[in-house]
Amino acid sequence: MKTIGVLTSGGDAPGMNAAVRSVVRTGISKGMRVVGIRRGYNGLINHDIQEMNLRSVSDIIHRGGTILYTARSPEFKTEEGMQKAIRTCHELEIEGIVVIGGDGSYRGARDLSLRGIPCVGLPGTIDNDIACTEYTIGFDTAMNTAVEMVDRLRDTAQSHERCTVVEVMGRHAGHLALQTGIAVGATAILVPEIPYDLEKDVVSRMRNTQLSGKKHFIIVVAEGVGHVDQIAKEIEMLTGIESRATVLGHVQRGGNPTVRDRVTASEMGHRAVELLEAGIGNRVVAMQSNAIVDFDIYEALQMTKDIDKRLYQIAHEISI
Ligand code: ADP
Ligand code: F6P
Repeated sequence: MKTIGVLTSGGDAPGMNAAVRSVVRTGISKGMRVVGIRRGYNGLINHDIQEMNLRSVSDIIHRGGTILYTARSPEFKTEEGMQKAIRTCHELEIEGIVVIGGDGSYRGARDLSLRGIPCVGLPGTIDNDIACTEYTIGFDTAMNTAVEMVDRLRDTAQSHERCTVVEVMGRHAGHLALQTGIAVGATAILVPEIPYDLEKDVVSRMRNTQLSGKKHFIIVVAEGVGHVDQIAKEIEMLTGIESRATVLGHVQRGGNPTVRDRVTASEMGHRAVELLEAGIGNRVVAMQSNAIVDFDIYEALQMTKDIDKRLYQIAHEISI
């Protein structure tokens, strides 16, 4: 391939810039022309494209967000939008595209590949909810941010002898909540994958730990479970322990990527370009047993991923 494009799509994640940098530098070092497609698939529809050179990706490896901007593009899901995107690829001689995003972005990449523009997907989301991969770019940074924030909540909960109920991101998945919950020593962790009973799974656990002298409590709730205000009110009513709810929100999506995210993004970006160089599209790059691998997009989208029940059980057993 002579020219490849790179875009970021869906929710941003720390480490996306490191992935863009890796794609651009690998492509150029292989003698390719690389263009940056701005604002996700909208960039293909609206010709929002920039030529990339070695220096366009200088000073970004340490930055959160994405220099290419990101967007959700409803128009791209229509046949007309898709055709506009394909026309742009032909006009600009874009022969392959690296798409950095989540499952939704992979569906777009599959559709483009099926219509003759080979695409390779890279997993970029703080939720770690992409089935084919053990790890998604941004997850480690988001966990560390969430842990830092909850450590602060612990200070005030400890001083006031309160219960702090904290919501972390994850609309459909509790991976972020589970890891964060363990790392902050939460008394209970609520995730959308596992139904809960407030009395049994939260309140009675608090009462039991109270008997051995515990005076402040952290309850981590995934966004997909929601209702943290309500949960805090009910806990206060049932236990008599003053409770406060906090929603961490988008703070978890920003910040400088951790080493793990920078390195993983660099490795995955490199593999994506190797695939396109070999003329291979309709693939996604993933991590399995800590190794970088790739899958057919269709296969990847059929896979399922459950919450780590073993880890959930461990959390349950040690937070007593
Ligand atoms: P994520 O990639 O983080 O899962 P979204 O689900 O919002 O985020 O998807 C990002 C973009 O990918 C959408 O705005 C749309 O442009 C494209 N996309 C999502 N689903 C499809 C689909 N079924 N077919 C084609 N494109 C899709
Ligand atoms: O997918 C990443 C994520 O941060 C989810 O955890 C969250 O539910 C969603 O994106 C929020 O999206 P938005 O950027 O539209 O607020």
